[in-house]
Amino acid sequence: MGLKFTFCWVCLLLCLLVWVTEAQIFNVKDYGAIADGATDNSEAFLKAWKEACQWTGRPKVWIPYGTYKLNSVTFEGPCKGPIAFVIKGYLKAPTIPSEFFTENWINFRYLDRLTVSGGGILDGQGKEAWSFNDCNTNSNCVTLPTTMRFDFVTNSWVHHLRSINSKNTHFVVFGCENLNITNTRIAAPGDSPNTDGIKMADSTSITIKRMKIRTGDDCIAMLPGTKNVNIADLVCGPGHGISIGSLGKDGDQNDVTDISVRNCTFHNTSDGVRIKTWASPGIGKVSNLIYEDIFMNHVGNPIIIDQEYCPYPPCSQEASRVQINNVTYRNIWGSSGSNVAVTLRCSQSRPCRDVVLENINLPYYGQGGDATAFCSNIKGLSVGQQNPPSCM
Ligand SMILES: *[C@@H]1O[C@H](CO)[C@@H](O)[C@H](O)[C@H]1NC(C)=O
Ligand SMILES: *[C@@H]1O[C@H](CO)[C@@H](O)[C@H](O)[C@H]1NC(C)=O
Ligand SMILES: *[C@@H]1O[C@H](CO)[C@@H](O)[C@H](O)[C@H]1NC(C)=O
Ligand SMILES: *[C@@H]1O[C@H](CO)[C@@H](O)[C@H](O)[C@H]1NC(C)=O
Repeated sequence: MGLKFTFCWVCLLLCLLVWVTEAQIFNVKDYGAIADGATDNSEAFLKAWKEACQWTGRPKVWIPYGTYKLNSVTFEGPCKGPIAFVIKGYLKAPTIPSEFFTENWINFRYLDRLTVSGGGILDGQGKEAWSFNDCNTNSNCVTLPTTMRFDFVTNSWVHHLRSINSKNTHFVVFGCENLNITNTRIAAPGDSPNTDGIKMADSTSITIKRMKIRTGDDCIAMLPGTKNVNIADLVCGPGHGISIGSLGKDGDQNDVTDISVRNCTFHNTSDGVRIKTWASPGIGKVSNLIYEDIFMNHVGNPIIIDQEYCPYPPCSQEASRVQINNVTYRNIWGSSGSNVAVTLRCSQSRPCRDVVLENINLPYYGQGGDATAFCSNIKGLSVGQQNPPSCM
């Protein structure tokens, strides 16, 4: 009996010791955070982060329930070990221009084994800022902040968050490796400017799964240097679909390779799965892509390759020098919002190679005849059902 009793106490003490040293909690409230929705909490958050980052167990920066106003913050590493950032509360971005003309709202940099989770909400307060976005007409336009940006973050996991009304892009992934974003909901009005869901560049081994993205720009955009990305179980719309590019405006670092997009649904988006390269001299390569098991519910351009991309004419109108090869579209069905359901407009100087269309069923229900497919400068093959009739 006595022995058992002592044994239990030893166990408990050990457990406590393990708990204290391993999962130490750094609650922002202990660092002066005030959840009144009005006081800026950036200093308190940064203090909690600084101490957590230096802890050698398994620190957790903890943001409890409540509404916290937060100005622009950068959480920088390297830290002593893995670190978790748990957001239970509701974070509100600034609404005064002098406080929000920054590149990012919440930035994580130079970190390994970071986890950001908690079910909390990131409210970018975009309505207060969208009117400042005149980038379509003014090349010296001010930059509005990204809601959450990851720079040089490796072996990390972002999950169970909600991002609403970002001022600019919701999430940016740059220079990252082995970063996963899952079970996260992203929302902004369909007509909000440049509110891409997730934008990535110069990153490798990224998984994006179980997401709902409703926004005013691309649900996901993959920019130069994106490699080995797996996207699955995602619902997108409204928005501009899942894009690769724009690529090839200039320079020669425009590769995007090994991308899979599986089991996704697009609702009422302007585009579905899109590859766009500028009619400009930039050199690059887009290869090894697979788009599979995708439902298009009234999508403007469900399948589109556009190598003459020119959103704001005039453009240089050179043939794109980005080579596209090995792209498979398999089991893609639903309805097209325009009568050209499949557009494969490749470059005259770098024709697309090894493009496969397999089991495509994208009828058009509007006026002006049945759905059609358009091809130029492309070599590939079609297999199985083809509606519209294949142009290859
Ligand atoms: C990300 O997801 C992939 C695929 O499921 C998995 O192999 C990898 O370990 C995950 N990485 C992290 C950091 O969770
Ligand atoms: C496909 O995606 C939907 C919606 O995200 C999800 O509910 C479903 O489980 C996924 N199916 C498979 C086979 O993964
Ligand atoms: C589809 O989008 C159009 C234009 O953006 C909008 O007017 C319409 O209500 C949307 N339909 C659905 C079902 O969401
Ligand atoms: C084509 O791309 C697919 C999907 O990424 C890949 O599995 C396959 O190996 C590639 N084929 C060639 C010949 O590179």
